[in-house]
Amino acid sequence: MKKRRPIQPLQQGVFMALLLLCAARAQDPAPPGGSQSTPAHWKANSWWPTSGVPSRAEFAGAETCAGCHAGIAAAQRKTPMFNAASRPSDSDLLRHHTGLPFSEAEYSYVLSRQPTESKFVVKNDTGTVSAPIDWAFGSGEVAQTYVLKRNNDFLESRLSYYTSLMALGITTGHSAVAPQNLEDALGDPIDSETTPRCFGCHTTGSTTSAIFDPDHATLGLTCEACHGPGAKHVAAMNNDEPGPVEKTIFSTRDLSPVDSVDFCGACHRTPVDVAAFMPANMGIANLRFQPYRLERSLCWGQKGDARITCVACHNPHKPLVRDPATYDATCLKCHASTGSPPTSTLLVGCTVGKVNCVSCHMPKYEIPAVHAMFTDHDIRIVRPGSGFLP
Ligand code: HEC
Ligand code: HEC
Ligand code: HEC
Ligand code: HEC
Ligand code: HEC
Ligand code: HEC
Ligand code: HEC
Repeated sequence: MKKRRPIQPLQQGVFMALLLLCAARAQDPAPPGGSQSTPAHWKANSWWPTSGVPSRAEFAGAETCAGCHAGIAAAQRKTPMFNAASRPSDSDLLRHHTGLPFSEAEYSYVLSRQPTESKFVVKNDTGTVSAPIDWAFGSGEVAQTYVLKRNNDFLESRLSYYTSLMALGITTGHSAVAPQNLEDALGDPIDSETTPRCFGCHTTGSTTSAIFDPDHATLGLTCEACHGPGAKHVAAMNNDEPGPVEKTIFSTRDLSPVDSVDFCGACHRTPVDVAAFMPANMGIANLRFQPYRLERSLCWGQKGDARITCVACHNPHKPLVRDPATYDATCLKCHASTGSPPTSTLLVGCTVGKVNCVSCHMPKYEIPAVHAMFTDHDIRIVRPGSGFLP
């Protein structure tokens, strides 16, 4: 057995190991009607993202969906979610870098690209190891981490590419202490319960009929990662008398505001996933769990409102919108315009700013371990110097 280095709480894999372990035992602490854990949703619904229950035969494949939903398909291909995982040969990021160097203690690394493969080469006084990369995780919008299959183990690479640094750095959650030997320098083993979860959130159809088979997954998130298997829908739509469409594919239309947010939370983590299964003292790292942050805000209220779900601000089929003014319309569905008094349908408005509401009320903070800024979804008045509220 290989000796494992201590793993920091931030490590993505460990989150999911915890989630699974707890799911097996814990009572769901959520009140009725409130947010639930993702495992509870797997049980309660015919389909839920990251569920590995449906069989491969029930999936139609994204090309089939594009045949009728061409506009949505063309837009969705440009999203980071579509590119959430890839083979190294398909990763634009790796294609644009022929050799990325890094060094720590006595180790020198190169992430090198050849025509047929990408690999990590690590050297020290005792020798050299070279290991091909099997999968690239993350679109590279923020970062990209590599997964290697080595001697029947899945390894999470010790080094990731960080877009803001334009260079390799230590993967979020890995020990800052230099590895003990060349083999450990490649990465940390991901345990067998966590590996399917990583693929579950970053690929489509990696687990079917409860069997994990990453070689037959569609890398990245295509239509059926969210909408569930669609072969039945395709067959019905090809039929002359299709009947009600909602009965042929899981309907995201009918979700309550809480469930709609939990739906995105299957991967972005629901508030209950965060409260029950994540380490309690994550500090600023919990910025990444938007459902948890959003539901803390006064705007959310007790049970939410269709005007303040994730899809009220984000079109899941399109890339993230960076222009802050675009979000004003969402705020003004509930708040009166600046300068106008509240009405029977509109709440009190702002006395300070007229436009770009999110630029003041949804501040961005850096998560140092990820070398990137994230947006606080806890919408609130930010007083000067108040900083991040864990
Ligand atoms: C033969 C044409 C056809 C194909 C192929 C097809 N769809 Fe549809 N789909 C339709 C039509 C028609 C509707 C109803 C009109 C609409 O909402 O666009 C629809 C509606 C939908 C809806 C909305 C359901 C609701 O609750 O209102 C979703 C989601 C959907 N399709 C997803 C998919 C996915 C995922 C695939 C691929 C697995 C797919 N479709 C393949 C024709 C098709
Ligand atoms: C099956 C898992 C999954 C589901 C379900 C999911 N996401 Fe994501 N989402 C991801 C992953 C993985 C990424 C990171 C993509 C990358 O590699 O950059 C992401 C990234 C994003 C981004 C950031 C894009 C950027 O430009 O940085 C937004 C916005 C987003 N998701 C919104 C949503 C919304 C809204 C929903 C619900 C409708 C949703 N997601 C549901 C897995 C998921
Ligand atoms: C429960 C779902 C889930 C699991 C499990 C998961 N991820 Fe992710 N991952 C996400 C989501 C969602 C994002 C987007 C975060 C954001 O932008 O807020 C993401 C983002 C990333 C990114 C982009 C950089 C970053 O940190 O935001 C990388 C790289 C990544 N994941 C790698 C991995 C690897 C490697 C594993 C397994 C060892 C893994 N993920 C497991 C959901 C998941
Ligand atoms: C990240 C998750 C996610 C992915 C990936 C995704 N969808 Fe959707 N889709 C949703 C959600 C959530 C809604 C409901 C949006 C709402 O209520 O405003 C939706 C709505 C729809 C609808 C009905 C409403 C509309 O916008 O016309 C269709 C049709 C649809 N999706 C097709 C597709 C197809 C085709 C793909 C693949 C090219 C796809 N979706 C990929 C989450 C997703
Ligand atoms: C679904 C309706 C809804 C939407 C959409 C909404 N809010 Fe709110 N917001 C509320 C409610 C309800 C409150 C609490 C008001 C109260 O208790 O008087 C609130 C309170 C606030 C507060 C005061 C919080 C505090 O700490 O006192 C601010 C600031 C705010 N909203 C800004 C925004 C901004 C900016 C947006 C858009 C990004 C937005 N809201 C979108 C419903 C909404
Ligand atoms: C009131 C509007 C609003 C709502 C509701 C909302 N978002 Fe966002 N979201 C934003 C804004 C604004 C940004 C930052 C855009 C930019 O980069 O300037 C953002 C950014 C993101 C990002 C990119 C990473 C980051 O932190 O900057 C992800 C992922 C994301 N949102 C997911 C979600 C999910 C999941 C939900 C549901 C829990 C959600 N959002 C609800 C407005 C919203
Ligand atoms: C330049 C930064 C800035 C911008 C832009 C801005 N706000 Fe504010 N907003 C503030 C500050 C600061 C306060 C607190 C004012 C006070 O009470 O001292 C505030 C207060 C509020 C409140 C609470 C009002 C109350 O009396 O309880 C709401 C609601 C609100 N803003 C909504 C919005 C909306 C909606 C927009 C966009 C139309 C917006 N804000 C744009 C800075 C801003």
